[in-house]
Amino acid sequence: MNMKKRVLSGIRATGRLHLGNYLGAIKGMLELQDNPDYENLYMVADLHTLTTPYDVEELRKNRREVIIDYLSAGLDPEKSILFQQADNPYHLELAYLFSSVMTVAKMQHLPTFKEKVKQHPENVTMALLNYPVLMAADILIYKADSVPVGLDQEPHVEVAREIARRMNQDYGTNFPEPKRFKTEGQYVPSLLGEGKMSKSVEGSFINLVDDLETIKAKIAKAPTDTGSIGGEIPKEGGVANLFTLLKLIGSDEVYNKFILDYRDKKIRYSEMKEILSDAIYKELQPIQEKRKYFETHPEIVGEIIAEGNKKAIAIARETVEEVKKKMGLL
Ligand code: ADP
Ligand code: TRP
Repeated sequence: MNMKKRVLSGIRATGRLHLGNYLGAIKGMLELQDNPDYENLYMVADLHTLTTPYDVEELRKNRREVIIDYLSAGLDPEKSILFQQADNPYHLELAYLFSSVMTVAKMQHLPTFKEKVKQHPENVTMALLNYPVLMAADILIYKADSVPVGLDQEPHVEVAREIARRMNQDYGTNFPEPKRFKTEGQYVPSLLGEGKMSKSVEGSFINLVDDLETIKAKIAKAPTDTGSIGGEIPKEGGVANLFTLLKLIGSDEVYNKFILDYRDKKIRYSEMKEILSDAIYKELQPIQEKRKYFETHPEIVGEIIAEGNKKAIAIARETVEEVKKKMGLL
């Protein structure tokens, strides 16, 4: 009997990962992977990629790239099960079973759904509506109770809790109510001065693979003109975002120095941006080095995925069988 609690998280295969994904999600995964109380499962959410318009060949490539990003960032196949969602057919099976306890109205009212409808009004598909139900299946199929994801994913984790409660009530299953595992970087702001860093907003993000020059060029463009300086730093806008990034990635000493500079009206944004860019690069450089290794050893990546898929499927099969029995399907 496995007494460890479980962790499950995933990232869609929509492109290269950015600093927001790293600080908001991957840092949490890394922390939990070193906690001996947990068994960790991390997947690439390739099926969720189908919920917005995508390119077939890009997806084929990216569903592997995300695994390479995980490995490069420090997820370790000796400690974590790394796998591809679409290779485990039980996720879809459980999602269908779960869809019978979730109403359409509830799904239509989720802020994440409404946002996607606005972004892609021509692509409001059944798969998009069902996104949170599949995500609940991803989590609950492993009976995971901890989910390291950024703040924007909270409504989805809430849906998973609701489905767990419903299933337990209606069918006597024993699903835990999963909680989001929060990181300090649960909301990494955009470089554009407004909103969150997101791969769907051009100019808002720093890629994990960006070199120092690219990072400097991107940070240099970040807006700082707020009209006033002196006193407390602003709560929102370009300047606030730069301070948030510096706090997340720089040393306390440097952060405090710039807070004082701002207060005393002697802040030089060019200097702050330079230091911030260097600090970001220092964090990303080891990840980029490791990436080179995995890029040139595809057979190792392939073995890691095959092994991870096998382990994930074995756990998932048990849960689905149990649920089918309780629902009168076995
Ligand atoms: P994007 O919004 O760029 O498309 P995803 O939706 O693929 O990113 O998010 C993958 C993971 O990264 C999720 O756990 C999400 O919460 C986290 N994440 C994405 N953007 C940020 C951000 N700006 N700050 C913190 N976490 C984020
Ligand atoms: N919705 C998540 C995102 O936007 C990806 C995801 C799919 C996920 N299934 C999950 C995250 C299960 C955590 C747990 O990135």
